Amino acid sequence: LGVGARRRDLAGRRVVVSAGGTREPLDPVRFLGNRSSGRQGVALAAAAAARGAAVTLVAAHLEVPLPSGVDVVAVGTAEQLREAVVTAATGADVVVMAAAVADFRPAERAEAKIKKTDDPAADPEIRLVRNPDVLRGLVEARAGARTPVVVGFAAETGDPGRSVLQLGREKLARKGCDLLVLNEVGETRGFATPTNAVTLLGADGTEREVAETSKDVVAELVLDAVVPMLAPPIS
Ligand code: CTP
Ligand code: CA
Repeated sequence: LGVGARRRDLAGRRVVVSAGGTREPLDPVRFLGNRSSGRQGVALAAAAAARGAAVTLVAAHLEVPLPSGVDVVAVGTAEQLREAVVTAATGADVVVMAAAVADFRPAERAEAKIKKTDDPAADPEIRLVRNPDVLRGLVEARAGARTPVVVGFAAETGDPGRSVLQLGREKLARKGCDLLVLNEVGETRGFATPTNAVTLLGADGTEREVAETSKDVVAELVLDAVVPMLAPPIS
């Protein structure tokens, strides 16, 4: 079967996808953000809907058009995203965390716009505090059960000590999810582009390399990996 001619193997299933990048406000006009466009998550939501799933897309500042045929919950911050995902995850068969969730938020959010003064010595310093890890929370909440299937994404640049693949394996183990979509990123790779090259790492040790292809094809291959992990449908 080619892409676009797939069976409706997610009929009767509920799928939650988070997509985009969260923004953490500093004051009423400024935020800390990231470079995620939401394109891969939107492709996943659209593909799951086309395969018959009832899809909730938790959308954080998407820079691409919304797909049709899915329920959209718009969020801004990581905390809002967490709340929306946890709510939607109740009774879901699959949760895909494609969103780039801010790891940290400013410890304080100014009520009014932060202003410069004449004294550079008084320039502000921003203190950050950690946001909750939504993916880990989902894995912990199912407490040993296998539902929902939880899929994480990892954007890695690699570092001098460890390869992107090593970092991905460590992250999969740390997060405890069922599948990790590992993505090598850089300033010109991965973000806001129509293509992606990924490795699908399964919690069972499986590994599938996907050479650079469209984010739509990546979405189908991710779902192909998820379907065998689903519990038998309740009829
Ligand atoms: N994630 C999440 N909540 C967070 C941060 C990340 O749910 N507060 C999810 C992302 O949606 C993604 C996965 O965790 O599916 C991995 O995100 P990533 O940023 O690669 O991992 P981190 O654990 O935040 O580690 P790092 O220090 O490498 O950023
Ligand atoms: Ca992170």
